[in-house]
Amino acid sequence: MTEIAKKPIKITETILRDAHQSLIATRMTTEQMLPIVEKLDQVGYHSLECWGGATFDASLRFLKEDPWDRLRKIRDKAKNTKLQMLFRGQNILGYRPYGDDVVEYFVQKSIANGIDIIRIFDCLNDLRNLETAVKAANKEKGHAQVALSYTLGDAYTLEYWTNIAKEIENMGADSICIKDMAGLLLPYTATELVTALKETVKIPIQLHTHYTSGVGSMTYLKAVEAGVDVIDCAMSPFALGTSQPATEVMVETFKGTPYDTGYDTKLLEEIADYFRPIRDEALESGLLDPKNMGVNIKTLIYQVPGGMLSNLTSQLKDLHAEDKYYEVLEEVPRVRQDFGECPLVTPSSQIVGSQAVMNVVGGERYKMVTKESKDLLSGHYGKTVKPFNEEVQKKCIGDAEVITCRPADLVPNELETLEAEMAQYKEQDEDVLSYALFPQVAVDFFKYREAQKTKMDATVADTKNGAYPV
Ligand code: CO
Repeated sequence: MTEIAKKPIKITETILRDAHQSLIATRMTTEQMLPIVEKLDQVGYHSLECWGGATFDASLRFLKEDPWDRLRKIRDKAKNTKLQMLFRGQNILGYRPYGDDVVEYFVQKSIANGIDIIRIFDCLNDLRNLETAVKAANKEKGHAQVALSYTLGDAYTLEYWTNIAKEIENMGADSICIKDMAGLLLPYTATELVTALKETVKIPIQLHTHYTSGVGSMTYLKAVEAGVDVIDCAMSPFALGTSQPATEVMVETFKGTPYDTGYDTKLLEEIADYFRPIRDEALESGLLDPKNMGVNIKTLIYQVPGGMLSNLTSQLKDLHAEDKYYEVLEEVPRVRQDFGECPLVTPSSQIVGSQAVMNVVGGERYKMVTKESKDLLSGHYGKTVKPFNEEVQKKCIGDAEVITCRPADLVPNELETLEAEMAQYKEQDEDVLSYALFPQVAVDFFKYREAQKTKMDATVADTKNGAYPV
């Protein structure tokens, strides 16, 4: 066993991405972020996570902001700190596998606009779905971090994780992240997992968890002692609950030890002071639901991410079947087993969750089957760790063809077609990528942007004509 070097722990700050995604439905605006970015930049963080699928989608859809513009503005103010994003493998930030040319172009443009570190994950841990993005990040001289979608189950032994870590290192990743989206990683298991990974690979190991189940800070402590290199934390006003453990708490915990971050406590206090009124406002408006702030022990018992629990609740409500909640919760692990014991993270969490609802509400298992379930069972999302339940597969897809190749091999290059479809709206190269990911939402945004400009031009003309009162 190798001796673990004790060294200062590094922190990725998630307040500009995961923290507000987890607690306030990704509604923090660029305007709210910008005044504090320079201070965040002074802390000395390993990186600032600021971009991902939900931030991109919510910017366009709800905030009527250009996500590319947000990225450039943050980059402009964060001169010293690496900027980080989350990337869904071949699905980029969307929900379907894209042609390789779109994946490559997205990586290229993300880096050109200011991203340094791209955290790439796949909901089935099928590394073939990550290859194109990793290669593209290597080519653009970005940092390619591959995330293991962490989950529990018979198939997920230490050997499974170390084998996959070795493969990730060999495919050219610069670091590995243990992505524990549900807060399932317990402190002593973290010791075992981090120790095993550190003994297997040379590249740095980062740990990402959520506080949902209440063990997050303890898990970080044990992981740091076991030699993990970086932990993901959120400034206290948007920490805990379904978000990350608090930055200030972890900084204080390691003070005076070999793991001391050396961050300036006073500076952190000023940053927290800035975000606190934003939190208060969100509480008052109902955007921040106190339900998301406590410990949800059901995530440990049923092993499902917090976000999935709230999705199930709203699906059942729509079907007037709220009384079936616990039946559905018990059905989730059974569906997951039928579906090859996949991790539960976007989009597999939605696929398994919706199917579990149908199995219970429909009165017969797999009588009603979603399109996504059929796609998963015919290999269109990739390879699962265990084989599918053959009986279930037969019932759901009949004699339809099952593919075993890399799903994106069946998706032709599509950038040119996409360019042609949206040419009339194009104001910058990046627009085609926004359109590729969220076609309808992007077009609505482009129209809004156009209308705003016309309105502004009119104002300028009015002012020139002296129409404004002096
Ligand atoms: Co997360």
